[in-house]
Amino acid sequence: SDPALVERARAAKAALGDRLFVLGHHYQRDEVIQFADVTGDSFKLAQEAAARPQAPYIVFCGVHFMAESADILTSADQQVVLPDLAAGCSMADMATYDQVEECWEVLEDAGIADDVVPITYMNSSADIKAFVGRHGGVVCTSSNARRALEWAFAKGSKVLFLPDQHLGRNTAVLEMGLSLDDCVVYSPNRPDGGLSTAELRDATMILWRGHCSVHGRFSLDSVNEVRARIPGVNVLVHPECRHEVVRAADLIGSTEYIIRTIDEAPAGTAWAVGTELNLVKRLAGRHPDKTVVFLDRTVCFCSTMNRIDLPHLVWSLESLAQGEVVNQITVEAETAHYARVALDRMLALP
Ligand code: 13P
Ligand code: SF4
Repeated sequence: SDPALVERARAAKAALGDRLFVLGHHYQRDEVIQFADVTGDSFKLAQEAAARPQAPYIVFCGVHFMAESADILTSADQQVVLPDLAAGCSMADMATYDQVEECWEVLEDAGIADDVVPITYMNSSADIKAFVGRHGGVVCTSSNARRALEWAFAKGSKVLFLPDQHLGRNTAVLEMGLSLDDCVVYSPNRPDGGLSTAELRDATMILWRGHCSVHGRFSLDSVNEVRARIPGVNVLVHPECRHEVVRAADLIGSTEYIIRTIDEAPAGTAWAVGTELNLVKRLAGRHPDKTVVFLDRTVCFCSTMNRIDLPHLVWSLESLAQGEVVNQITVEAETAHYARVALDRMLALP
């Protein structure tokens, strides 16, 4: 990365001192992650944001829904900055508040809404989290989806899982012992979600038709191809991948789990990793004594994670150092209140 920009980022960070805390998601570029005070998966970053009441400025190097969650979990006098407002998430955009309300009406018309506990993946907007909070549900991340489902099934007989069908299905089927037949997919763009009343009544898991545009591109062929190419390779994938991919993999887990697994693996082992490319490249660079490859060479970076680059980071840090808060992410008070209810239930999961 440009040495002049690196120097400017350092200087602005030094000028801000303890007033600043920089969070970095594992999918961020190298040029950005080097300035993070803490790195993590979305669960760890939510915890870390909540644990920094003394820092008035939180710069979130990640995507919009993560910065919103940080704003909700921090106190009113702290300001959360997202260095580029275009850093969204295509999956989070697949569920809008109006669509989720309409879905709930469909469940009410089918006479099952009282049996349904809603769960939303962290990768969703604050107003979806608030909807879930108001309706007795919980937020989950890829590192606690199983515990969230166990919590929900202790309260109700059915779950509405938003917005990632793959995380919902993979967790229910591969970790909770449900069958694929227990799951139906609700399509927000079709009348009644494309489901009959009988299908809704029979279902245990009602999965929203959403997915990650990056992880959704890994295929069973990618797994078969890498196994043929690298004998003995261990296939390690994120649970946002499609069911047949996760089923064919050796290990499944959140970004934090993926890192720990490869860090702790013996020298000489081989790993094909199905998650975002910035992270896989970093892991490969850090472990020259192991073979670490990207699961599918035709899949590319998460374009929205990559929106946060060094020029945007420098601009936001220098603005803060001059007393100007740019790109602040704020969640309206009532939405924040109910979203926090759902987030706090997640943070309290056993
Ligand atoms: P983690 O929860 O594993 O960090 O994954 C979040 C994510 O998918 C961001 O895309
Ligand atoms: Fe969203 Fe997928 Fe990018 Fe994660 S990797 S931010 S889920 S689009």
